[in-house]
This record gives sequence, structure tokens and C-alpha cells, in this order.
Amino acid sequence: MKTVLGVTGGVAAYKAVYLLRRLQDNGADVRVVMTESAKKFVGELTFSALSGHAVFSELWAANGERSAHVQLANWADAVVVAPCSANTLAKLATGLCDNALVATVFSAHCPVVLAPAMDLEMYRHPSTHRNMEILRGYGYTLVEPETGYLASGLLGQGRMPEPETLLEAVFAAVTPKSLAGLRVVVTAGPTVEALDPVRFLSNHSTGKMGYALAAEAARRGARTTLVSGPVQLPAPYGVERLCVTTARQMFDATTKASVDADVVVKCAAVADFRPANVRTTKIKKNDAPPVIELVPNPDILLELGKNKKTSTTLVGFALETDDEITRALSKLRQKNADLVVLNSLRDEGAGFGGDSNVVTILDKHGGQKRLAKASKSEIAKQIWNHIIEYRKGTWA
Ligand code: PMT
Repeated sequence: MKTVLGVTGGVAAYKAVYLLRRLQDNGADVRVVMTESAKKFVGELTFSALSGHAVFSELWAANGERSAHVQLANWADAVVVAPCSANTLAKLATGLCDNALVATVFSAHCPVVLAPAMDLEMYRHPSTHRNMEILRGYGYTLVEPETGYLASGLLGQGRMPEPETLLEAVFAAVTPKSLAGLRVVVTAGPTVEALDPVRFLSNHSTGKMGYALAAEAARRGARTTLVSGPVQLPAPYGVERLCVTTARQMFDATTKASVDADVVVKCAAVADFRPANVRTTKIKKNDAPPVIELVPNPDILLELGKNKKTSTTLVGFALETDDEITRALSKLRQKNADLVVLNSLRDEGAGFGGDSNVVTILDKHGGQKRLAKASKSEIAKQIWNHIIEYRKGTWA
């Protein structure tokens, strides 16, 4: 992704250095445009050294290049201005094109993402909000600032979001909206079933696969709800996250969220059983029960399958260790799913924890597609491509 990173004058300019790095980590080729005020906060050399290209900031440079701002804008797949000061917001909103950054944004015909960041009263000022509204009307993505301590020492809204959030906003802006208008529910992570206040039954799911699916759905324009067991991941950008702990909580949250869903993807590793009795005090070593009695948890996918509307696409996962295809097909039929995504612990790089997966997608009409080992984000993209094809009835 060819990305123009615009930096304006504000304390948050230092965070733009990290954003540049995160963009590059994700394969982006980045060129930096700075305003003169931005250079008072972070040196031009930092951005040119890290991007590997000269910083563009002088609209009137006599370097023999024709209309450098137009060339840069034509080159870009995305433009992100972070931080975007009140001054630059106003220029962009009113068409005051007197520097290299504004000229580049105005020449762009790719998605533009703006991250306003400023002090408390400046952000509260009606002119800032009016300008943001105007810019939204131009089709630009405005990433709202976060609340916290500001450079002035005041507490309130105005902080530039962390680079990870802005990275997601850029990805979302450049992704075609192939799920626009759809309501999607994804479940992710493990469930945790307490035995006493200290111990529990659970599994190795980290949530990475399910979070990648939810993030991709949101990038593609779906109204996305993620029902998540306890994991260490931040909520994906643009996703409504409902946090649960037990299988019964996941059952309640998922069935409620799925009422008007077009697609439900059950990626969570739900505990099939829970302890029959949960002790209120820690089980002492000497009076530990020799046998822990278990009772079955509700099967969420099975229940969703029983009540499935014809317009809903129900996607289950299957994690198997042997006789994989047969077991996955049996889950597909038994739970009335449309598709099942099978991952086998026998495949290197598949399943729990890691950043990659290897899956086979099976559908109820007998279709079967194996996806080679790839990152969980790439597998998520391919799963969504398959779901979209399935819904169109063009499943191979
Ligand atoms: O989170 P990661 O570390 O990235 O790992 C990803 C993953 C391995 C957890 C994921 O890719 C995966 O395989 N998830 C499903 C794991 C699982 O529970 O498989 P299962 O074969 O036991 O369950 C079959 C299906 O029934 C699943 O869709 C599951 O969500 C659902 N189920 C199971 C039990 C239950 N009580 N209710 C359910 O809805």
C-alpha cells in the first residue's frame, strides 16, 4: 500500500513516527509530507531516515520536479494526516491551499484519513466540529481523538489515538466495502469455567483467529459485533465487542446479538463442559475432590442452527486432531451450519495461539476448499471471500 503520511504541528507529531513504522511493518511504502510547524516538534531527518525518502514540505521548491504534490497524490493508495491540527482542519475544510500538505490532500483521489489532535478547548470549539463535519461530507475518514491527559496538563478529549488504531483506520478506508449493509456476529477466544475462586477449566485459544475475522468484517463495511471470551487483545477498530467469560454467558450474548444477523461466525473455542459445583472458597490441597463432576454446557452453534433463518449464513469452526474431514462434516450437518472452517492440530502452523493457520472450508452442498498456510489476517480475508461467494450462490 503506497501511503502518504501528513504530519502537522502538534505534540502528537512524535506518535507519527511510530505510525510510520507500523505502516511499514504492514507492508506500506510511506512518503512523508510535513508542515513547517510540524518540524518544530519532530525533525525532518527522523522521517526521511525512517521512510527512506526525502520529506516533502516545500511547495515552491525549485528542484525541477513538476507539481510534486500532484505526483505524490497520484502515487498514493491512501493519505493519512496524523496529527491533524485545528489549523490544518480549517484549511482543508475551507480550501485554503497554502502549503505542501494541503495541496497534496486536495490533489488526492484515494481515501483520506484525518486524525485531529489538539488541546481541550480547541477541540471543544464549535469551529473544529463544524470543520470536521464538512470534511466528513467530503468523504474523508475522521478518527476522533481519545480522552486522557493532554500536553497542557488538562484532562479531556484531544489526544491522538495510538498508531495501531490509526493503522486500522487506514486499512478500513482502503478496503472495498464488500460487506456493506450486512450485520455480522463473530465469536472468539476461549471460555473459562471456574472450579473455585482460583482455578478454572479452559483451553489454549488466544482469540487471534476470531479477532482477525471481526476486524476484516468491519473493514469491509459490516456492522460487526464480536462476542469474546477472556483474551489479551484490544477490540478491533470499528467493532462492537461484548466481553464474556463462561460458555453460558457466551450463549446469551451470541443468541441475543444474532437475532438480526446476516452472518454468524462461531470461531470461539467453547468449553463443552463445566464443573457441576463451583466452590466459593479455594479447594485446599488436602480436601481436593478425587473426581471433578462435569455438566454439559449449551452448544451455541447447535442452538443457532436450530433457529436459523434462511437469509442467515451460519459458519462454524472445527478443531480436530484425527479423522478431520469426517468429523467436520458431521458437525456441519448436525449443527445445521452453512459452512464449517476446519483446522487440524496435525497441520504445522494451524490452530491455537500462533499468527498463522491452515484451514479447509466445507459447505453444506459438498464444496471443499483447502487454504494453504497463511497469517490469520490473510486466512480471515479468504474466509470472508468464501462466505461472500457462498451467499451469492456461486460457491464452486
Ligand atoms: O484463538 P486462536 O488462538 O487464534 O485459535 C483459533 C482456534 C483454533 C480456536 C479456531 O481456529 C477454532 O478452531 N475455533 C473452534 C474451536 C472449537 O471449539 O472447535 P469444536 O470442534 O470443539 O467446536 C465446533 C463448533 O461448535 C465451533 O464453531 C464452536 O464455536 C462451536 N461450539 C462448540 C461447543 C459449544 N458448547 N458451543 C459451540 O458453539
